[in-house]
Amino acid sequence: MANDFPIAAFLDALDEPAMLIEGTAVTSANASARALFGAGIEGNDIRLAIRHPRALEFILPGRDGDLELTGIGSLERPWQLRLRRVGKTLLFLQLIDRAAAHSAEKMRVDFVANASHELRTPLSVILGYAESLEDGAVDPKDCGRFGGVIRGEAKRMLRIIEDLMSLSRIEADRFVAATDRVAVAHVIRSAVDNNSAMAAKCGCHIHVQVEDGLPPVAGDYPQLLQLVDNLISNALRYACGDRDCTIEVSAAVERQQVRIIVRDNGPGIAREHLPRLTERFYRADPARSRDSGGTGLGLAIVKHIVERHRGLLAIDSIVGEGTTVTVRLPIARL
Ligand SMILES: Nc1ncnc2c1ncn2[C@@H]1O[C@H](COP(=O)(O)OP(=O)(O)OP(=O)(O)O)[C@@H](O)[C@H]1O
Ligand SMILES: [Mg+2]
Repeated sequence: MANDFPIAAFLDALDEPAMLIEGTAVTSANASARALFGAGIEGNDIRLAIRHPRALEFILPGRDGDLELTGIGSLERPWQLRLRRVGKTLLFLQLIDRAAAHSAEKMRVDFVANASHELRTPLSVILGYAESLEDGAVDPKDCGRFGGVIRGEAKRMLRIIEDLMSLSRIEADRFVAATDRVAVAHVIRSAVDNNSAMAAKCGCHIHVQVEDGLPPVAGDYPQLLQLVDNLISNALRYACGDRDCTIEVSAAVERQQVRIIVRDNGPGIAREHLPRLTERFYRADPARSRDSGGTGLGLAIVKHIVERHRGLLAIDSIVGEGTTVTVRLPIARL
């Protein structure tokens, strides 16, 4: 290394905490390392700078290697320590923040646990009813009812699997820009038609208000239909049964975007649930969702479709007044 090599500038160009160590002295530390271990770390003894016994056990022998540990900075934060020999006397130490990787891994583990739980519940019911039928202990006049329960639970499992497959297809297309020119008015009309039978059954009125001459958005028609359909079916599912159930679906241009709003005057959602609604299988009202055949995947699908379309999603709700979901999608370029 040339003597005039700008080591400090080089270390500062790294985002992660990094330092050079000679013997037991820290000869150079970048801004992130100074923020983590204190401004006086440079020129100090490494044993005073990093007071973490496991980290010191790893660093002091001065051998190349990697170590994962927690307890540096904050108690829970996981780090990967990467130690490399540089030339004859120097050691290069870099700390890589593993918090994002750990939380992605936790999400994956939670997802597998949740999906297994959601599938096991209907499967247990099916098994129980099937065993009773097999034993011949069921009164023949109850057989039809038992068959109905089995079919209902099997349908529920199929819905979960279809929704999961749909979610993974949307995720797989995440980086593929959707380029069709989609007329939002058409999407809304089809989504309202899909839900009209349910609306009639609930005695709900769906009011549609679409601005004249709405420009097309750049998108994927089936996905956008799925998005609006999910929002309208949520509004119906949760507002249904309430007096004067009314749903408003509107679309208008707002700052180079098409803004779609689905609003209901249903029971609303308590504030603490709002940030978690787009998580897979998260339900604010589990009993109501399950009783009406919900899988808890609808808003996760909505979120992924919005992200794929480089749009924005906002869910606002007031308990006792209703819920408003706003989606903003970029207008298609000419
Ligand atoms: N318009 C709404 N009014 C009240 N609660 C709602 C509304 N929309 C969503 N929620 C709450 O958010 C939760 C998550 O909604 P999501 O659409 O993801 O799942 P779901 O409706 O339970 O099932 P599905 O996968 O069939 O859509 C619901 O379980 C419900 O508790
Ligand atoms: Mg839903």
